[in-house]
Amino acid sequence: MYPLIHLSEVHSTNNYLKKILLEDNLEEGTVVYADFQTAGRGQRGNGWESERFKNLTFSMVLYPHMVQANEQFIISQFVSLAIKDVLSFYTDDISIKWPNDIYWQEKKICGILIENVLLGSKIHNSILGIGLNIHQTYFYSDAPNPVSLSQITGDSYDLITILHQIIKRIEYYYTQIQNNSKESIISLYKESLFRKDGYHLYNDGNADFLASIQNIEPSGILELKTDKGELRKFAFKEVRYVL
Ligand code: BTN
Repeated sequence: MYPLIHLSEVHSTNNYLKKILLEDNLEEGTVVYADFQTAGRGQRGNGWESERFKNLTFSMVLYPHMVQANEQFIISQFVSLAIKDVLSFYTDDISIKWPNDIYWQEKKICGILIENVLLGSKIHNSILGIGLNIHQTYFYSDAPNPVSLSQITGDSYDLITILHQIIKRIEYYYTQIQNNSKESIISLYKESLFRKDGYHLYNDGNADFLASIQNIEPSGILELKTDKGELRKFAFKEVRYVL
């Protein structure tokens, strides 16, 4: 059993674990979850909105020393898959929007913030921060397209049950990484992608363009083929999905 730390309120579960790790060791797999974050953090320097008691906000620490720094994207891939698998038990139409947002149809149900500390060419520690909307029905921030599980299904859920399901699924995929078998994770991730088929609108910061997903490189680079037949490669933040 992984150690589970429950906090009623914290600035950010990611920051909480990071601070402890500066001074102490934590058992691998330790999870901290909070009823409320006063300064929840999202990607791109954004905040993460989550109403008190309504959703899951938690972080887990791993020591994936077997993962090379230039292949750290595999962590995003297996964490995304774990959450997608669990949510797919409750509803259809769950997909992974590259690099690691979890979508239901065209809406975001879960965000992931992975923070790795590198030591040379390896990963020293990795904090997996997960914000999963379960019961929230009104979102105050300007996040473009949030949705919660109960908005989708009309049901309510035991948060801790879902937390344990996700942790177990993360452990399942992490064991594969420890056994150096990444291939099925890589192919399952590709099969699970939002907009994996057909041409869709993207924006490169200058203009919208139509393209289809060709591949995701091990480094996490997204390869798009435009409707003009041009192959274009993008790192995270260099391209935006037009929704
Ligand atoms: C995103 O912007 O999509 C990532 C959101 C990640 C939010 C989670 S909530 C638990 C953990 N603690 C944080 O401060 N952020 C992550």
